[in-house]
Amino acid sequence: MTKILRIDSSARDSGSISRLVGDHLEARLVAALPDPRIARRDLASAPLPHISNLTITGYYTPADRMTAELYNATALSDELIHELRSAEILILTAPMYNFSIPSALKAWIDQIVRIGHTFSYDGASFSGLLTGKRAYVVCAYGASGYAAGGPFGAANFVDPYLRFLLNFLGIEDVAFVAIEATTAGEEMLAANVAAAKLTIDSLLEVV
Ligand SMILES: Cc1cc2nc3c(=O)[nH]c(=O)nc-3n(C[C@H](O)[C@H](O)[C@H](O)COP(=O)(O)O)c2cc1C
Repeated sequence: MTKILRIDSSARDSGSISRLVGDHLEARLVAALPDPRIARRDLASAPLPHISNLTITGYYTPADRMTAELYNATALSDELIHELRSAEILILTAPMYNFSIPSALKAWIDQIVRIGHTFSYDGASFSGLLTGKRAYVVCAYGASGYAAGGPFGAANFVDPYLRFLLNFLGIEDVAFVAIEATTAGEEMLAANVAAAKLTIDSLLEVV
């Protein structure tokens, strides 16, 4: 059995390019892997709450001093971390919103990045605790030029951020698929989606 966790974050439930290309990736993975099991989080149709004062207090309270109120405030984080830990493969789809990721995805990140659970700190350095996983990240950009070294590379706080964050958590095996110019017209969009699907097909030849 191969456990896959898919996280979608576009606010669009129709016409979303990140979801469309994510569907292609998921279909190819399902075809390539033995007995795949997929868990899903749609952060747009089922938004997660932002962390609160109590959540943060719970994150930093030692287990022997946790109260019922703090357990309650960190229960969702526990559940989301359990879901992520259980997965061998993570599929993340994300549009660029205002040069960064959607706030819905940031809300998930704030629930799963947690000291002692997904990373540790020994007083000198950090270690990611989610080792042994592979991640596929599909990013959709309305404009183009966001690749490293491109004219708008410095304005891209989507895939550099997600790469850093996943590495920080110990997920080092990360493949990115970018679809740029999604708002540039039908012809270019079709060509860029087709190119992204081909990239996925060649990535999955070696699964
Ligand atoms: C609120 C909002 C902010 C956006 N900001 C940017 C941006 O900063 N740069 C960009 O290139 N495209 C931007 N776009 C365009 C989206 O990145 C593009 O439409 C992408 O395809 C959205 O992903 P989706 O197709 O999966 O919904 C923005 C779109 C929205 C709705």
